[in-house]
Formats: sequence, structure tokens, C-alpha cells
Amino acid sequence: MNDALNQLQPYPFEKLRKLLAGAEHTQGLGHIALSIGEPKHASPEFVAQALRDNLAQMAVYPTTAGLPALREAIAHWCERRFGVPAGWLDAARHVLPVNGTREALFSFVQTVAQRGVDGLIVSPNPFYQIYEGAALLAGVQPHYLACLASHGFNPDFDAVPTQVWERCQILFLCSPGNPTGALIPLETLKRLISLADEHDFVIAADECYSELYFDEGTPPPGLLTACAELGRSDFKRCVVFHSLSKRSNLPGLRSGFVAGDADILKAFLLYRTYHGCAMPVQTQLASIAAWSDEAHVRANRDLYREKFDAVLNILSPVMDVQRPDGSFYLWPNVGGDDAAFCRELFEQQHVTVVPGSYLSRDAGGQNPGAGRVRMALVAPLAECIEGAQRIREFVTR
Ligand SMILES: Cc1ncc(COP(=O)(O)O)c(C=O)c1O
Repeated sequence: MNDALNQLQPYPFEKLRKLLAGAEHTQGLGHIALSIGEPKHASPEFVAQALRDNLAQMAVYPTTAGLPALREAIAHWCERRFGVPAGWLDAARHVLPVNGTREALFSFVQTVAQRGVDGLIVSPNPFYQIYEGAALLAGVQPHYLACLASHGFNPDFDAVPTQVWERCQILFLCSPGNPTGALIPLETLKRLISLADEHDFVIAADECYSELYFDEGTPPPGLLTACAELGRSDFKRCVVFHSLSKRSNLPGLRSGFVAGDADILKAFLLYRTYHGCAMPVQTQLASIAAWSDEAHVRANRDLYREKFDAVLNILSPVMDVQRPDGSFYLWPNVGGDDAAFCRELFEQQHVTVVPGSYLSRDAGGQNPGAGRVRMALVAPLAECIEGAQRIREFVTR
């Protein structure tokens, strides 16, 4: 057996199950889950139709590199969305389809991380659990940067010692973040690119929530925007991860992409060829349809905006909670033990949220998720409102 498997932490939902095991909830109240970050809005019918129309493609083996038409559709989406000048993203070299960002984040680390040289994989804290597991299974130590309210829920990159940057092999960014919803400002992204050049590390920007934002007039920038503004047409040391799961409510399609540095993507393609994770052709054809349409994405944002407005109306008078820059999460301060808050909330109101400390690691003498909980506003509007009212009753009692 691979010894590194023993280093993997229990998944937050496993810990949550244990926390709530045996908890008795108040009779009569139906359960409301604000715990799982699974999109619940309807998947677009035209994507389902594209999938149905192309089921005969099951008869062929897909290539790992994917269809040129898909890679081109993605490159054009990046140009439109992030202001990348036409022609910079060569679909054949700068774009690869992946089966959702989860597997891509994991396999990317296996491709880029170098064992046995005292390296680090640097990650925000709290963070998406895969960054850590990928580092541990690649034999490289994870290093955590606290995302605190005092710093806008982003890491204080200026406070990172030079020795950490020197050992850094991959810097994970998550913007908008899970669970904080914080956006990394464009100027910070540009500064991180110059640090990557200075210390020779790769920036892996997980932007799977980039399309869930509130102001239609100001879509959040991403790492590709920073490259565009810096004139960095080779995207050196920069790779972005995007997904249809949240953008298009297609978590079961398993479709996303990576884009950026052509040399890194060439190595990633080689790794993936052996790993065996080519995207089925019918999924690729359905994905082309999804990346080529924005109307359904705007409608999706409208639904989230409505839910955030309603829930914040109920909760902000009684809790320390802010509207995030993006994503579908709230990350309120519960002013005490987050696990006890979750258990008591479940018992008294039959509402499930995730303790913030389960999404973060103790590092530097603190757990930056302690005292907070994550609420995912994925359920229908009425259920989110009912959940918020019960939480309000719980905290004001
Ligand atoms: C921050 C973050 N990255 C990546 C993923 C993986 O998403 P998918 O594999 O569906 O693209 C998730 C899913 O919840 C996430 O929260």
C-alpha cells in the first residue's frame, strides 16, 4: 500500500457526519441542508439535448487532448471573458479539456510537483481539500496561508517569508474562494506573477466559481486577465482551472478545462495520456454548446442574486455575515465554537451547515476557519429563506 494514503485527512463531510451522529433534531421540522456545495439549479436543456444528439459517439475512443472544436470554443470563451487578446491562446497548445476541475487539480499536482527536493505546495487556508491531498500523494509538503477577515479573507502574500517562496513549487489560488467567496484583486495577481518569475514556481488558479458574481457590469478578473494586462502572451508559469459544474449547473457532466503555459500543459497532456482521463466525445460536444452560451449563465446568476438578497436580509441584522465577492457561499462569524454551533443548530432547527474549522488546518498556532461556518445557498429560494429564518431564530434565542 502507498503509505501516503495514511496522511490524507478525513473529508469534511465525514467529520460532519460524526459530529451529527446521534444528534436528535426537533420533531416536525423538515431537514434543510446548507452544507453541500452541489449546484441545484436546473441543468440547461440545450446541453442535455446536445448530449442526447451525440450519444452515438460512445462507439469511439476519445483522445486525451480533446476535439480541436472544444479547445477552440474554450479559447474563445477565455478571450471574451478575461480580455485575452485574440490569437494569444493557441487552442492546440494552451488549452486542455478535463473531467471537472477536481480530477484536474489532483492530476496537475502529480505532473508538476517534484519529490525529494524539500519543496512546498502553497495553499490558502481554508481551502478545497483536493489541494492538500494532491500534495500529500505527490510526496510534497503542503504549506498553508491563512485567509482571515482582517485581510479580506485572502492570504497576506506580503507576509510570506522568502524561504517559503523559494521552496514553493505550486501556489494554489482559489478566486472567488471556497468557502470565503473572496476575490483576489487583479493587482495582487500581477504581483504574484512577478513572485512566480522571481522564485520559479507555478501558479494554479482554481477559478471554478468565477461566473458566480453579483454585479453584471463587473465580472471578476482572473489570472488570465492579469496575464493579458501584463502583456504576458505566453502565460508562463500560469495555469487556470475552470468548470461547467457551477457556471452551467452541470456537476454531473464532469467537464472543465485548464488553460495557460504551453510547456506545462504539454507535460500535463503526457501525464494524462497515461492516467487515462480523456473526456467522452459526447461530453465534449455538449460542453461546446455550454461554453458558447452566456444567457443561461446570466439566468443562473439572477437566481443566486435573489437568494443572497433574501438570506442576507434575514441574517445580517443578527449575525456577522457579509455578501461575498462571488461563489454561492456565506462564511459568517458565529462568535464561538463552530462545531458546537453546527450541532446545536441541527438539533434545534434541523438545518445543516459546515463548521469552518473542518475546512481549514491548524497552522501557525491558529485555525483560520474556527468560529465560522459555511452555508451553501444552493437549495431553492424558499428553502434558503426558511433555512435563514430558522438560523435567525436559533441565534436570537
Ligand atoms: C474550490 C473548488 N474547486 C474545484 C471544485 C471541483 O469542481 P468540479 O470538479 O465539479 O469542477 C470544487 C467543487 O466543489 C470547489 O469547491
